Formats: sequence, C-alpha cells, structure tokens
Amino acid sequence: MSLYPTDRSGEFAPDEMTRNSLQFIRSGRRVSLDRFPPRTTVLDWLRLDERTTGTKEGCAEGDCGACAVVVVRKREGRLVYEPVNSCITLIGQLDGGELITVEDLADDDSLHPVQAAMARQHGSQCGFCTPGIVMSLFAHYHQCDGITSRDKINDVLAGNLCRCTGYRPIVDAAVTACASAAEDKFIRGATQRSAALRVLDDAADVLVGDDKSFFAAPASETTLAQLFSRHPDATIVAGATDVGLWVTKKLTPIEKIIHVGRVTGLADIEDTADGYAFGAAVSLARAAPVLGSIDPDIAEVLRRFGSIQVRAGGTVGGNIANGSPIGDLAPMLIALGATVELRLGDEIRRLPLESFFLDYGKQDRKPGEFVRRLIVPKLQPAAHFRAYKITKRFDEDISAVLAAFCLTVEGGVIREARVAFGGMAGIPKRAKALETKLRGLSLADARSWRSAADAVKLDFTPLTDLRASAGYRNQVAGNLVIKALAEFAGVGSDVTRVVDRRIVADAAE
Ligand SMILES: Cc1cc2nc3c(=O)[nH]c(=O)nc-3n(C[C@H](O)[C@H](O)[C@H](O)COP(=O)(O)OP(=O)(O)OC[C@H]3O[C@@H](n4cnc5c(N)ncnc54)[C@H](O)[C@@H]3O)c2cc1C
Ligand code: FES
Ligand code: FES
Repeated sequence: MSLYPTDRSGEFAPDEMTRNSLQFIRSGRRVSLDRFPPRTTVLDWLRLDERTTGTKEGCAEGDCGACAVVVVRKREGRLVYEPVNSCITLIGQLDGGELITVEDLADDDSLHPVQAAMARQHGSQCGFCTPGIVMSLFAHYHQCDGITSRDKINDVLAGNLCRCTGYRPIVDAAVTACASAAEDKFIRGATQRSAALRVLDDAADVLVGDDKSFFAAPASETTLAQLFSRHPDATIVAGATDVGLWVTKKLTPIEKIIHVGRVTGLADIEDTADGYAFGAAVSLARAAPVLGSIDPDIAEVLRRFGSIQVRAGGTVGGNIANGSPIGDLAPMLIALGATVELRLGDEIRRLPLESFFLDYGKQDRKPGEFVRRLIVPKLQPAAHFRAYKITKRFDEDISAVLAAFCLTVEGGVIREARVAFGGMAGIPKRAKALETKLRGLSLADARSWRSAADAVKLDFTPLTDLRASAGYRNQVAGNLVIKALAEFAGVGSDVTRVVDRRIVADAAE
C-alpha cells in the first residue's frame, strides 16, 4: 500500500513531485538522507552518526541550551539565522535548511568574533554550556545588525544555562562581539550559500520510509490533508518543542510523522482590517511582533514564552493543538475572541477557540483533522486588554496561572467582559461568573472589586501540582482581577508591576 492516494484504477499514482530523501546543507555540502528512524533528533544525528561532539546534551528537554545549533533558512530574500535546541528538533525538520554547529564557526585558525570575545572576557569555566551559548550569540550576531543591549542579550540567553561562570562576563563578551555589523566567513560566502539553499527549495513533497514507518513533509496543504486522512494515527509535528520531549523523556515509540513546516501557505500571516490570520505553522518568534502589536502585554508574555530557541521552533498551531491547560497563547486568544480553523480532507470548518478545548487532553478535533489557521481579531477602540503570566522564574518557565482580560469600557463602566485563565482548570477556559460580575461594574467603585474578584472561585476548582497549590492559584487569580481593574481604572502599571507595561516591537527577537 502506498502512502499517497491511489488513482481511480486503484493503482498507486506515482508522483514525480515526491522526493524520498531528506536534504540540507552542512559545512558547505549537501547532505541527503534516505533512511533514518523518523524520531531521530538532530543532536543524536550529530553525535552518533556524524560524530561531531562539540554540541552537548544537558537536559534533553529544551531547557538548558547546551545543545543549541543554528539553522539558516531563506525568508523574504534574506538568510535568517535561528538557534534551535537540537535535542528536541527532529532531523527531518532540517529539510531545505543549513545546519551550523560550533565546529563550523572558526575561520581556519582564527576564532569566530563571538568565540574570540568569549575567550577574551573569560566567558567560560568548565565549558559545558559554552558551545550552546556561542551558537545562540552567533545567531544574534547575524540577526541584530550591530544593534544590541544588555537587556536584549539577557533575553537571547534566557534559554542557555551556565552553572559556573556567571553571566556577567558572558554578557560582556556578547555586547562586545555584537556591537558591530556581522563580518565573518558566513557573510562573505552568503551568495553561494543562498544559491545552495535555493537549489534545495524544490517544492517537492518529502516522504522517507514506508507505510508502517515514515517521516513525511508535504509541500502542499492538499497533500497534507490527504496524507493525514489516510494516516490519522500519524503524529503531526510542527516545531517539536512538545513532541521532542515525548521522544527524549517519555520514550514514546512514534513511527509515523507528518511535519507541517514545509507546507506552502501554512506559515503565512495575513493582516486584514479586523484581525490577523496565522497559519498553524507560524513560529512563535514570527508571531510575537504581530500579536504584540495588538497589545504590549501579549508581547511581554511572548518575550517570556520559553526561550529564543523554543520560540524559533515552536508554533502558534502547536501551542493550541497540544490542548495544554497551561499553554500561554490560548487564554489570551480566547479573551480576544479568536477562531480556530480546522481541515479534514477537503472540508474546512471554523469554531470559536474556546469551544475547541473540551476537557483535559480532549479537543474538538476528529481523526485526520489538523489545525489550519488561527484568526485573531484586533482590539476595538473601546476595548482594553491585559495579560499576566505567573511563574516561579521570570524567564523560561511554564505558567502556574495565566490571566487575560478584554474589557469594553464606556464612561468608566464595564459594558462587555471576556476573561480567560490558563492553569485554573483542565483546559484554558473563560471565567463566566466573573464576567457576569464585571458587566456593569463602575471602575471608580474600588470597594466592589474584591467581591467581583471572588467570583473566580465560582468559575474554577484548580488543582495542586508541582507548579502551584490550589490555594495559591485561587488567591493569585483573584489578585490578578484586582490588579487588572486597578490598571483599567487608571492606576499606573509602574505601581502594579515589577516590570512596567512596555511597548516592545520585537519582543521575541
Ligand atoms: C523549554 C520549553 C519551554 C516552554 N515554554 C513554554 C511557555 O512558556 N509557554 C507555553 O505555552 N509553552 C511552552 N512550551 C511548550 C511548547 O513550546 C509550546 O506548546 C509550543 O507552542 C508547541 O509548538 P510546536 O510547534 O513545537 O508543537 P509540536 O511539539 O510540534 O506539537 C505539539 C502538539 O500539537 C500537535 N500539532 C502541532 N501542529 C498541529 C497542527 N497544525 N494540527 C494538528 N495538530 C498539531 C502535535 O501533534 C502535538 O500533539 C515550552 C516547551 C519547552 C521545551
Ligand atoms: S540538552 Fe538541554 S536544551 Fe537540549
Ligand atoms: S562554563 Fe560551566 S556551565 Fe557554563
């Protein structure tokens, strides 16, 4: 039986547009792989197959950055350098890109400017974190055009853990190295590298394996829909920042993988008068400035979403399709009134995002159906938005609670309220009792705020888990309602917050 649909005679209709190998650029050469277990990670391929061991394994779950490598792709005519965690990136995701590791940086006997600065500033002691840190900074060196700051570097390094050197010398090295426009062998070879990537961009469907075990990366949405209908037991992989952990931590045997990262149109962002439509495969890094333009709080949450590596890989669609009760996007998008678009075969349907989440681990998605787009309305002139992410650590931490408020206020009175929470139930959910209490509430009447906030307890019975106790969650949710009302009433965010409400255009880099 073939993976692709048969023609009317029942015979396999061979498709000359299908490529049965993976291809990417590595150290100036084209690598072509036609046999590999579908769940192979980039880190395992590097260390066990290629035997390049400069890239380290620390946590194997995307947290420490020891395994960071850079993937270069052509986007809108330019080369884009993105750091990803190779421990949770599947080798198949590299198709069409260029893989750069720490072994590639030096120019003959001369260290790369980032490496030289790290050595000069004593940015390394035991050295275990150093390859990952160098790769994250190498990506920044190429992306920042010589414009950086200590704050920016701190964001860039949020996903790189160093246990012994201390960050001061590392940040000193980064600021020095990234203070001028990139000038290295990668810039000098950009024309050839760009041409090599263009050759790989063949718009072919990729399929490596057989009916029982395969890695597929369709190039068109039609092929994706057909393939997933035919193999509804396959695992869809977008950025693999969740799925990668099933491989490394749960040791889940995944035999059929359909990667959505090459599907034409699925990574598009459409800007209309009323809102934005995000293809499911839009990365969080690309979505961040657009979503952040709706409200600065969204930009701030996304700045703290995982790390620069997680945002480069992770997608908008993955963060919704995973059905997580603690995913950061869902509560914010539900409060904004977003719609999710799903596709099964040729059939496309839309539903309010809040209706997509049915129960813990259960979404309104049929076998073979995939998330196609998220449609997010812009804020109306009388609407005000706030979102707060509560975590134990400021950087790279999963939310214990996330609260998002979208209120329409006229003459100091709340007319309409949409409030959603993450971390308070088995799914991201609207707080309907609270919303009812808020409608008609005068913002000037501060005495009524506490009784409105108490309504959260009617909406949720949170759990105790390793992130927070039920009591803490209840307390913090009520306090966030008070905080939001205080800010809507005009109390400055410099009073209500540690980090001020900021306008951040490029929140996620
Ligand atoms: C270190 C680390 C930090 C993190 N921090 C955060 C954080 O701060 N906030 C947060 O919310 N999350 C966080 N995450 C979780 C994860 O990064 C996000 O959920 C991310 O958005 C997942 O997207 P992805 O593209 O990587 O999904 P994948 O791992 O590729 O897929 C996730 C799930 O969605 C399914 N899927 C993906 N795309 C589709 C589609 N189009 N249609 C149908 N099903 C699909 C997959 O089959 C899988 O079940 C973190 C993860 C790591 C490793
Ligand atoms: S090994 Fe820690 S992020 Fe990959
Ligand atoms: S130098 Fe030892 S962990 Fe960073």
